[in-house]
Amino acid sequence: MLTKTVASLAILATSALAQVPICSKYATALNITETQLVEDVLVLALLGNTTANPPVAGILASSSPVLNFFNGAGLTTNRNNQPTSVNFLDGGGAASLQNGTLGTTGSNQLTLANHLVEYVGFLLNCNETFPVYTGNPNMYAVHKFMNISQTQFTYFDTAIENATKMWDLGSWL
Ligand code: HEM
Repeated sequence: MLTKTVASLAILATSALAQVPICSKYATALNITETQLVEDVLVLALLGNTTANPPVAGILASSSPVLNFFNGAGLTTNRNNQPTSVNFLDGGGAASLQNGTLGTTGSNQLTLANHLVEYVGFLLNCNETFPVYTGNPNMYAVHKFMNISQTQFTYFDTAIENATKMWDLGSWL
């Protein structure tokens, strides 16, 4: 499963770097900043939207098969190469995302949200003023203790894919 994850990332990164700057193209079309574009897609994928077409199944929805990786329910986070329980919803959770903030200062939630925005910005070849990725670049190590199943990966992947479709950004994937 992780091999697939890494392969998907490699394809995404390669295509993003080789092509037109997708980030600026869509941010310009939508008249928003590149950071806002990536944040909007991320927040939509996290929260979900049942009325979108196609509907976006939220990564943090109560029925989400990957929620347990984010709420500290299990020893699934890698800290010093040890399986550790970390609550990534400690910055206000879904409510804070609904209110337009990524999380309170100093929270695990804000750190993760910022890292995800930075990383996706890098993958999408966003502009030079886009915040540089400051997390762990080793995706294998980061996700090592999650033992992500096919069902979980598909759910996560589809949430992001359908979030991009709400802005007609399907060509990202
Ligand atoms: C089922 C699929 C996935 C699940 C459940 C998942 C879950 C998580 C969780 C819980 C974390 C926090 C771990 C930590 O801070 O140590 C994390 C970190 C991260 N994930 Fe994933 N992830 C998945 C797939 C992906 C994919 C496809 C990407 C690439 C776009 C990605 C990129 C990242 C990045 C950049 C971080 C931040 C690492 C850091 O802060 O050092 N993840 N992921």
